[in-house]
Amino acid sequence: MGNPFEKGIGIGCELVDRENRHLNYLRISITDRCNLRCLYCVPEGRIPKLPHGDILSYEEILRLVHIGIGLGIRKVRVTGGEPLVRKGVIDFLAQLTRIRELEDVSLTTNGVLLAPNAQRIFDAGIRRINISLDSLDAVKYAQITGYDQFKQVWTGIERALEIGFMPIKINVVAMRGINDDEILDFGRLSLNHPFHIRFIEYMPIGNSRTSSRDQILTPEIQARIATIGELIPVSNGHNDGPARRFCLKGAQGEVGFISALSQHFCSHCNRLRLTADGKLRACLLSDHHAPLRELLRSGGSDGQLAEIFRIVVQQKAAKHRLCPDGMTTVKDQMQGIGG
Ligand code: 5AD
Ligand code: SF4
Repeated sequence: MGNPFEKGIGIGCELVDRENRHLNYLRISITDRCNLRCLYCVPEGRIPKLPHGDILSYEEILRLVHIGIGLGIRKVRVTGGEPLVRKGVIDFLAQLTRIRELEDVSLTTNGVLLAPNAQRIFDAGIRRINISLDSLDAVKYAQITGYDQFKQVWTGIERALEIGFMPIKINVVAMRGINDDEILDFGRLSLNHPFHIRFIEYMPIGNSRTSSRDQILTPEIQARIATIGELIPVSNGHNDGPARRFCLKGAQGEVGFISALSQHFCSHCNRLRLTADGKLRACLLSDHHAPLRELLRSGGSDGQLAEIFRIVVQQKAAKHRLCPDGMTTVKDQMQGIGG
């Protein structure tokens, strides 16, 4: 008998839901704060920030990660808001990558603070990084994000490439009339760079300044990309998410499509989410959640906290109810849930 915690051995997953999905992937939002205001994420006006005391400390998060590991979690992604704005994040990442039972620890960032931190993030043991970048044009980038930071992000991406992060995924939320004129430019970027470009269907979540009218669905994006060259399917590896992946003929990189609406991937979903204020959610696209913070802070035992994981998993819906005509929206803001 091998040690059940040995890398690659998938036994011991207790987090099996009613659909027989094995939930072994925890996405952790470490802050609701962000140094950008993306159109599709941040509402009009001032948004209330969570009080500092409502945010889980790194120690609290690590305790929950260990409880999750005991239940079968093997993969973690750190997100935000923007994770790099939180003090101490790099030490936190190093603590996560030292946990032997975790097969994969990755980071999603908007890249604004990447250039000065990339080497330390790499040294903390992170290899897989996702960078959100919705435009390759500095003026448009500022229109989408509210800040003139394109150059900083691009420098961060170049730094990440030099340092050797692999893969470097570039997340592009495609929006009609906003950045859909750049779909081909993003596709071409994969020709001469080893980037994995991920086109993400816009999802109506929270009170963003975009709506389902701005949606552009994968079949249309993919058809446009196919005008550049033949799209050769790439099979998904063990640690890959829901993207359908392709390689343009002769390209160094890849293009992929994350189609939460047009082709939802709920039947293979293996994710749980921990929000910055300590709520456990079984689905990005359902407001259903269970709070862990109060129990954490009132002397709850590991066993009691584990029980909440099990309950949330049992309540995970078979599939989300967002559909391309945008009938249902999620009330909670993306920034707090973590993308
Ligand atoms: N729809 C689709 N993707 C979104 N993201 C944030 N909000 C939305 C939304 N409403 C993406 C970001 C980032 C990832 C974490 O989630 O662009 O790449
Ligand atoms: Fe910040 Fe990401 Fe939201 Fe943009 S999408 S405002 S980068 S949290």
